[in-house]
Parts: sequence; structure tokens; C-alpha cells
Amino acid sequence: MKVEAISLEKKYHGAVEHWQRHNFKDYETLLDQWEKYFPTDERFCLCAKLELGTSDTIAIGEHKGEKKRLEPEQLSEEEAAHLLAIIKAQASTEFGSIQQHAGTLERADDDQDRFWVLRVMAEELRHGYQMLHLLLSKDWSHVSRGVSGEQMVEEILSMQTGNHVLDAFNLDYDSFIDNITFAAIVDRVGKYQLTMQRICAYRPMADSMPPMLREEAFHLAAGVIPMRRWAQRAAQGDPFITMTAIQHAINKWVPRALEMFGDERGGETNVKFGFKDLKNREAQDQYIEEVQKMIRDINLRFIRARFPAYAPEQADAALAELERARGTHHGVRREDLLRTPDRRFFRRKGEPAFSMVGVDGEPFTDAEEYLRYLSRHLNEGYVASRDMRNYAEALRGVAAGTLAVKDAIMKMPKLKRVGGTCPCSKGVRWVMDGSAADQAASA
Ligand SMILES: [Fe+2]
Ligand SMILES: [Fe+2]
Repeated sequence: MKVEAISLEKKYHGAVEHWQRHNFKDYETLLDQWEKYFPTDERFCLCAKLELGTSDTIAIGEHKGEKKRLEPEQLSEEEAAHLLAIIKAQASTEFGSIQQHAGTLERADDDQDRFWVLRVMAEELRHGYQMLHLLLSKDWSHVSRGVSGEQMVEEILSMQTGNHVLDAFNLDYDSFIDNITFAAIVDRVGKYQLTMQRICAYRPMADSMPPMLREEAFHLAAGVIPMRRWAQRAAQGDPFITMTAIQHAINKWVPRALEMFGDERGGETNVKFGFKDLKNREAQDQYIEEVQKMIRDINLRFIRARFPAYAPEQADAALAELERARGTHHGVRREDLLRTPDRRFFRRKGEPAFSMVGVDGEPFTDAEEYLRYLSRHLNEGYVASRDMRNYAEALRGVAAGTLAVKDAIMKMPKLKRVGGTCPCSKGVRWVMDGSAADQAASA
């Protein structure tokens, strides 16, 4: 594969570096120690990367067979506005996940795990940079309602955990278990989105995907590999790592991850416009199957660690029996293993929004009983959060018939702030010209 590396115009490159100094303080440590942890991998580059030699023909939808579009003006107004929203949402997730990871990164009990997450953060920074390149390298003014490229960048860099575009990026991490689970569960949705967009009818977007996807594979590993190790430790009786703690993190992230696909009934427009090749439910179905496989593999490693004398087939048979009969196998209960939550569990968007369904699909009719159930299946720190309080309030309204589901969905907080929130005293904006930028560079 051949890749073209591109830098943003100086003031925008500077804005991203300035953002990094405030939100990703260990970036330099990562670069200093890169060779120690990733001796065979190319050094990190903060740049946009475009794959060369990809298809120039639209693969799906209304324009199938036509030449891919190279300029936003070659898209219809509706198409361009739709794509612009996708790019901005994508940019928000990339920067947002760095803010989330930063909150609990220092609590990693293992240096390698910490450096792997640091690399994930650096690559998310590059993905955000890539999306800014898409916004800034072409003229979107005919669909941006008067918002300039510079203002779009300001808006994206000003977002904090709590006002990002997608809910999964508005939840604080409660412990390092979230760093790992998020990489295994939420970055996996990223993989699906990027894979679907490889065929995008807008070629600069399509060409952005292959380099991002290669990095995303590492993000999944940064989640799955520590999770496997933890399951083995839990099986061997490590008092500090339990399957319950991992399960609670899975319960926290899977519902938000499913909602990142969009409403189960939608996604037709993306296919019609040639931006993605799967509708929402189709992509979500494949994703669920993949998560189930991952979780089964972790359970299998738990069984093998607990019964080291077992041959692989024996471990597999023991797991199959536990899944089927839900009994006990030499002291291991089904509840001691991980489960993929039912797709309707703890949802607040999409088709099953505010239905009351347990991890294993069991239905509830009473809101208070359901909330108590959730409090036992999520970690204590998260249960005591504002997010849960907002959810509980909306759920009670829906259950009492005083709040329509569609209004409850809207109620899930989205506080939009625009521009000017750089926390350092030297400047109030992220994008700055000339001397102000040089001053801020020392901040
Ligand atoms: Fe990313
Ligand atoms: Fe990622």
C-alpha cells in the first residue's frame, strides 16, 4: 500500500498541538519511549494519511458506477450536508476518546497496558487531525450555513466530555477497566464505521479509511489482550481482578456502542448516497456477533486457566455445557463467566429506547425495580454519576406515561458550547494566527 502524508496549515497544526498539550499530557513520554514499546513499528506521525491507488468508482447507491466525487460541490447539497455532519461527528469522537482515556490512564497496573493505551490516544489524535484535514482542505461553505472551516475546528476542539456528538464519548471512565473495555467494545464500532466508509462516494473520505483501519486493529488489541490476561488472573484467584468488574464495564459500554450505529430502523440514506455499504441494523447485527465471539474466547481462556490440565476440546465442551445448562462445572458457575448483554439492555436511543430489559433479555415492568437491577449490574462509581441520574429521571417519566419515548431520547443531555474554551491563560481560542499562536505554544 502507498500512502500520502499531509500536514495541516500551520495555524491548524498548531491548534491541534495546543489542544494536545492540554488534553494529552503524556504524548511526549510516548514519543520518547516509542522504541522501547514498539521497536518494530514505524514512528508516530501527526499527519493526515491518504491511501493511494484505491477505486475511483462509486460502489453502491444512486450513483453506482459513476466516478467518485473529489470536491464537496460535486455532491448534491443534501449529500454534502449529510457527509459534513458525518465528518464532524467522527472528529468529535476522536478527540473525545482522548479526553476519556486521559482521566484514568495513570491508574493502569501495568506499564505495557499504559503505553498501549497511550499509543491508542496518539492515533486517535491523528484520526481527529485527519478529519480536520477533510474539513479544511476543501470548500464546504455551500452547506456549512455560514460556519467557516476555522469555526468548525474551534467548535470541535472546544468540546469536553459531556458535550460531544455521540453519547459513548460523553461518559467518564471510572477506572482503568474502562480504558480497556472501551478499546475492545467501542473502538470495535469504529472499525465497523471505517470499514463501511471505505467505499465512500467522496474519495478523500474513502482514501482516509485504510490507514485509520490499520491503526484501529491495534486499538482492538489494546483492549482484548489485557482483558484476556485479566480473565486468566481472575480464574487463578487474583483478588483484585474479577469477572464481575469486567462484566460491569461491558454492561456500561455495549449499550452505548450499539447506539453508535444509529437507530436500528435507519441508515438507508448513507447507502443511497453511496457513503456506507450497510444499513444500521445490518452493521449492528454483525457487530453483535463479533462481540459474542470475543467474549466467548475470553471465557474459554478463563476455563483453561482454571483447569490447566484440560485439553482444548475439553475446555470448549465445559464452556458449551455451562452456556447451555447454566449449571456449575467443578465450582465454576455460568454467572462467573462474561456475557454479551441483550441488545435491548439499558438502551436510551434507537428501537428499544427506554424498554426495560435485563442483561439476559429478562423483561421488567416496574421502573424502580429495573433501576435497582441496573445498580447491581454496573459499577458503583458509574451508578452514582449524573448520567445515571438523567437516565433514571427520563425512564421514570416514560414508565409513568408523562414523557414520550421520543422526548426522553431528546432529553439525554447535549450541551453545545461553541468556541473559545482553551483553559490556558494566554489565549481564549484554539486556532490562532501569528504571534498569539507563538505565545500560546509555550503554554
Ligand atoms: Fe479513531
Ligand atoms: Fe480507535
